[in-house]
Amino acid sequence: MRTQARSGQMGHGMQKKIYLTGIKPTGTPHFGNYLGAIRPTIQASQNLQWDHYYFIADYHAINALYNANSVRQYVYEVAATWLAFGLNPDQVTLYRQRDVPELFELQWILTCCTAKGLLNRAHAYKAQRDLNLEKHHDSDHGINAGLYAYPVLMAADILLFQAHKVPVGKDQFQHLEMARDIAQAFNTRYGVSLFTLPEPEAESGLVLPGLDGRKMSKSYQNTIPLFESPKKLRTLINRFVTDSSRPEDPKDAETAPIFHFYRAFATETQTASLRERLLQGGMGWGEVKAELFSLVDAALAEPRARYAELIENPAKIDSILTQGAEKARPKAQAFLHEVRQAIGVI
Ligand code: TRP
Repeated sequence: MRTQARSGQMGHGMQKKIYLTGIKPTGTPHFGNYLGAIRPTIQASQNLQWDHYYFIADYHAINALYNANSVRQYVYEVAATWLAFGLNPDQVTLYRQRDVPELFELQWILTCCTAKGLLNRAHAYKAQRDLNLEKHHDSDHGINAGLYAYPVLMAADILLFQAHKVPVGKDQFQHLEMARDIAQAFNTRYGVSLFTLPEPEAESGLVLPGLDGRKMSKSYQNTIPLFESPKKLRTLINRFVTDSSRPEDPKDAETAPIFHFYRAFATETQTASLRERLLQGGMGWGEVKAELFSLVDAALAEPRARYAELIENPAKIDSILTQGAEKARPKAQAFLHEVRQAIGVI
């Protein structure tokens, strides 16, 4: 027993559970990404009872982003953002999908366990198809098979590392269900219990309103990038939508999108105070924006400096991501070996 524990071959009961999350590098990280996914996953990474896998899903990005320089740039921006806000690469396994080729072999194996009908029902694909039908195009017009097979690659991302828990927003929930279905189909077909069924964890992040008051999202072009200069940040915050009430009018904070932005960075006391002052009347939106700017600018000071240092030094980011892949790959290879045995290719 003792030697076993020492050799690092921990018994089953002692193995830490796996928490895994990925980000698709398809745009410059903005405040919506930060509050929705980045901040909560960095918080989760501090729970050392779990093993954490954080990765940059560059092979997911290429089914929709065809500009090589943009892909390259966004990979660095996503990595630098995680690191700038304090994700610790010594405590988590941080890597890029590209560096773990085992994923793509597993994807094919899983493809052969995936009912085509399951993929027909995937939201992302269905949305494109419905758009085509609306425009009286052929239903497959402009849809590449990568978009169609996307859920299988995502299942491979999750199942290769036997993740127990994956934080997901509403849009990713179905993909996680599919990963479970695919894992179950494999286990049943081959009479094994190789694949762990991942559980979704409802994302604890906030849905942040964007400049126009709708959800902040790249597709609405209403985002505020995280690492703009303070001057640009102030300009964008000043552009934030507000209603036409006059400064002297009492205001209901809850119905103002800008209040939700403020609250995301403020302490409870600061939030309560702003709510109160708005209700009393005499506070104009311009004043709220000035306070919001100071708050956010201060919160960003340190991460901004770290981000600037990293983004100017891509070799440093590469080396961090490569080290992450070096931690991940031996596990991926050992597990893939078992999968190959189960299907009979070895
Ligand atoms: N599909 C996710 C997104 O669009 C990114 C992603 C790819 C992912 N593979 C994953 C997330 C595995 C969690 C687990 O945001």
